[in-house]
Amino acid sequence: MARFYQTTPIYYVNDVPHIGHAYTTVVADAMCRFHRQAGDEVFFLTGTDEHGLKVAQSAEAHGMAPAEWAAANAERFKEAWKLLDVAYDDFIRTTEPRHHLAVQAFLSRIRDNGWIEPGTYEGLYCISCEAYYTEDELVDGRCPVHDRPVVTMKEENYFFKLSAFESRLIEWYESNPEAVQPATKRNEALGFIRSGLQDISITRTSLRWGVPVPWDADHVFYVWYDALINYLTGIGYGDDEERFSAWWPASHHLIGKDIIRFHCVWWPAMCMAAGIDPPSQVFVHGYLLVSGRKMSKTGGLTQIAPRDLVEDFGVDAVRYHLLRDVSLGSDGEFSHEGMVARYNSDLANNLGNLLARVATVVASRCGGLGPAPQPAGSARLADVAASVVRDWEAGWRRYAPHEALEAAWRLIRETNAELEAKEPWKAPPGPGVEAVLGDALEALRIVAVLAAPAMPRTSGEVWRRLGLSGSPVDARLPEAVVWGGYPGGLAVERGPALFPRRRD
Ligand code: ME8
Ligand code: MG
Repeated sequence: MARFYQTTPIYYVNDVPHIGHAYTTVVADAMCRFHRQAGDEVFFLTGTDEHGLKVAQSAEAHGMAPAEWAAANAERFKEAWKLLDVAYDDFIRTTEPRHHLAVQAFLSRIRDNGWIEPGTYEGLYCISCEAYYTEDELVDGRCPVHDRPVVTMKEENYFFKLSAFESRLIEWYESNPEAVQPATKRNEALGFIRSGLQDISITRTSLRWGVPVPWDADHVFYVWYDALINYLTGIGYGDDEERFSAWWPASHHLIGKDIIRFHCVWWPAMCMAAGIDPPSQVFVHGYLLVSGRKMSKTGGLTQIAPRDLVEDFGVDAVRYHLLRDVSLGSDGEFSHEGMVARYNSDLANNLGNLLARVATVVASRCGGLGPAPQPAGSARLADVAASVVRDWEAGWRRYAPHEALEAAWRLIRETNAELEAKEPWKAPPGPGVEAVLGDALEALRIVAVLAAPAMPRTSGEVWRRLGLSGSPVDARLPEAVVWGGYPGGLAVERGPALFPRRRD
């Protein structure tokens, strides 16, 4: 059995979750749901990044102690993920003792291996990024990510000898072409490495809000050198070697492009320095933009709370939109109009309409009992389903949820087209009508399985209305998508519209 270890970034608790965080987290959740269906052993880790200057400052601005502020906001992230049906296996908070232990063990190992040394550093620092920039990386003297002023910082501290890893990193990139995806992002990271790496200051004496450095009580670790290690803490690094070696390096880090350097340069080098393999894959997605700008907690730009969207559209419509609308890796524009348009076309008109029409005709022509499908050899839709399933599976496997869902919706459209061509609602009851409806019911059963990673609730409801027992979430490939699974003779329920058409 394959192991699939999926992570998200751990989000800063300087503020509440917005739709950008929901984007990454829902994609990661759907990936895990697909891999569970595929029979893999899955571990899904998310969490919160609670140390560092940015969090300490935001706590102060709210008149709270950092620990209190962090705890309150970590709760908001958990609530958001609950609302979005995100089924993580573990939620890590970097203030937990287990994480302190893992950070201390990991960085002590790197130091023992000779890659950490004391030194002095002075540079231009963006507090929002929690990172130093060189003069030429700034845009008009401001942080290239946040468009905010940087500050000059000077510190006596410990350095990680990142510069010593240039050639090993390049070698790693060259021998693992899949390790950083998509290729444009891989080239960006590789270009950065080739342009030359500087050592990184990894401890701070200017603040106390961090993981204590075990060999020097005046220092805490720099927040990124604490945060990245969460990926190891979550699977037992330094605590449960057996568990750790079972899961590492089967890791898939899903991140936004704002944190590519940390994950695609620093992190693999840190792993090498500590004597473990780098992660097996980092998948870098683009930004969700609102009116062309990245949503951000610090920039004061448009903020869209997951809760408002879920209240407005329902959880599955939000999940579907995040997964389907943007090709993962590219930037995408998020708008209310765009959401309504896709909701109406894909959910109301295609999926919702198909289910409603099938249930109606089963009621009027088949006495409410769903007929069995035709054998695969005689059903045109069986061929469509087989090709859809192939594309759907390939889409998930290459981190292209939009392609996977596009494929699933092809089966919906073809089934609607089949009904329109045969017009069973006009025909008298009998074998002709039963053949058409049996095939449509079987197509819907398969659609429920294919839609489950994106829309677990809706899939369950379709399943239930078809009269099936169990859940499409627990369905296993490949059996679950082989044509002919709908047994026939089940009571089909006509419920209210799954996705009532919106007029806004
Ligand atoms: O960077 N579009 O946390 P963070 C798409 N704590 N994704 C977005 C987004 C947008 N407009 N805005 C945010 C940190 N994201 C660190 C991470 S990991 C060891 C430490 C998502 O709260 C995206 O995944 O700033 C991005 O990488 C992440 O939120 C940044 O979250
Ligand atoms: Mg950020």
